[in-house]
Amino acid sequence: MIKIAPSLLSADFVNLEKEIELVQNAGANILHLDVMDGHFVPNLTFGLPIIRQIKKIAKIPLDVHLMVTNPEIYLEPLANLGIEYISIHQETVLHLHRQILLLKERGVKAGIALNPATPVATILPIISELDFVLLMSVNPGFGGQNFLPLVYNKIQKLREFTKIQNPSLEIEIDGGVNGENAKSLVKMGADILVAGSFVFGNSDYKKQIQKLNVQ
Ligand code: DX5
Ligand code: ZN
Repeated sequence: MIKIAPSLLSADFVNLEKEIELVQNAGANILHLDVMDGHFVPNLTFGLPIIRQIKKIAKIPLDVHLMVTNPEIYLEPLANLGIEYISIHQETVLHLHRQILLLKERGVKAGIALNPATPVATILPIISELDFVLLMSVNPGFGGQNFLPLVYNKIQKLREFTKIQNPSLEIEIDGGVNGENAKSLVKMGADILVAGSFVFGNSDYKKQIQKLNVQ
């Protein structure tokens, strides 16, 4: 079962409640929330106040993707809100193992996000502790960028590692996902597809989600 996670980054923020209702009714499985701080990535989005409001109205799990230089300060507050999935960039923290354990103790699905240039082998020492790995298929910071095919090789490598060490680990792909690459991504082992501009860039969200929902 593939999970489709529309990224709200490409939604109409003035009508966020309506947009959330529309993607939920269109078949979204998860809502992907991109938190950017203007330091780790060259863009700013939103933080806890907005996430708190979204959590109040969302009927499907929330997936918070932390693109910030100091993710550790957000973990407890996000866990307190009942966020279901949280990913921390490997490139941002010194004590990743400690942060992953904190999330797991709080009952949050814990994930590591990897930039395109970061090798998958970097997660190997703690692979058995992880619920998911988010592989970036664009350089983080903006929606609507072109998909980087280098991620295919990373999915295959990660799948090989998980087969032996953590078969239930979910692989999430984020960036430039569309109706053309979805099938190959799933075939290679992706479980969660994030899509921003592909879903919100067309008024028929249901049709767009169906194009991604390749089994
Ligand atoms: C990029 C974000 C993505 C982005 C995806 O830094 O992490 O989640 O919203 O947008 P698309 O699907 O348009 O590439
Ligand atoms: Zn993201």
